[in-house]
Amino acid sequence: TYVVTENCIRCKYMDCVAECPVDCFREGETMLVIDPLLCIDCGICEPACPADAIRSGAESGLEAWVELNARYAHLWPEITVRREPAADARQWDGRPGKLALLSP
Ligand code: F3S
Repeated sequence: TYVVTENCIRCKYMDCVAECPVDCFREGETMLVIDPLLCIDCGICEPACPADAIRSGAESGLEAWVELNARYAHLWPEITVRREPAADARQWDGRPGKLALLSP
């Protein structure tokens, strides 16, 4: 499965939503996650993210993000249509420590 990682937080560009063929994205207030039960591992979303926030969950060191995606995928509603990102999205791109800003 692919996973959404920290740099999505407060960027939330949502380009990934338009690419996913199986509608596996789920929406929190400040980021999206991927439902691991639906993801078919096609990888189309990875290069579509302008924030470079999507990774293969098989990469080493991403265990916490694999767990976070799975956890919130069961709590957050699905998002199947891309909307415009927030006006300040670019200002958050690349900032460290954004996990502390995650609003579940
Ligand atoms: Fe987040 Fe990138 Fe999608 S910033 S909402 S994973 S396009």
